[in-house]
Amino acid sequence: MSDIKACVFDAYGTLFDLASAAARCPDVPEAARAPLSALWRDKQLQYTWLRALQGRYDDFRQVTAEALEFALDSLGLAAPERHGALMALFDTLRAFPEVPDMLRRLRAAGLKTAILSNGTPEMLASAIGSAGLEGLFDEVLSVHPLRTYKTDRRVYQYALDTLGLSAGEISFQSSNGWDAYAAADFGMRVVWCNRYGQRPERLPGQPAHVITSLAALPACLGLAP
Ligand code: LAC
Repeated sequence: MSDIKACVFDAYGTLFDLASAAARCPDVPEAARAPLSALWRDKQLQYTWLRALQGRYDDFRQVTAEALEFALDSLGLAAPERHGALMALFDTLRAFPEVPDMLRRLRAAGLKTAILSNGTPEMLASAIGSAGLEGLFDEVLSVHPLRTYKTDRRVYQYALDTLGLSAGEISFQSSNGWDAYAAADFGMRVVWCNRYGQRPERLPGQPAHVITSLAALPACLGLAP
């Protein structure tokens, strides 16, 4: 991957651990935490895809709040205080443990680092701050100015335009299979961080590498150990 000039990362689920919100909410019974996280995430993504199809944009905070409302309602857990607490926790997600060192290694090797996310600029700034990742990104790119969501190709194009690079000069990392395949189909070199052992997607595009933790990324890019 010697042509690679920049590493662009998906945010939620890739750098930031989504399960860390429900896990830190004392108000959610232990047994409900995993189903709640999963349903919340599924609905959040569906709502972005449907809006992109409809050509109707509401920002990711609204989509996230509405998805949470649906998930709490479905699991018999609806309560305004619980909703408020979980939304606040979503703003202070933890980074996966390998992330800070991995970013430092890439930057020390002269690679640019960036985020490309559905999150609003405010949500991303807040997550970066609470995860202690300030100063580790050259660009933090939100879909917000484009008023659409992944996998609209304009989102991936936005990273090229902002970084001034061609698709083949970008290594894109996502733990979301659908995002990884779409970026590969767009032409980026993709590393699918398949943290949860998901089966390969049957979608256009093919990730160049599959890893299970971002700790393996520098080696994938050919950086010395
Ligand atoms: C993002 C979601 C898709 O950060 O994880 O864009």
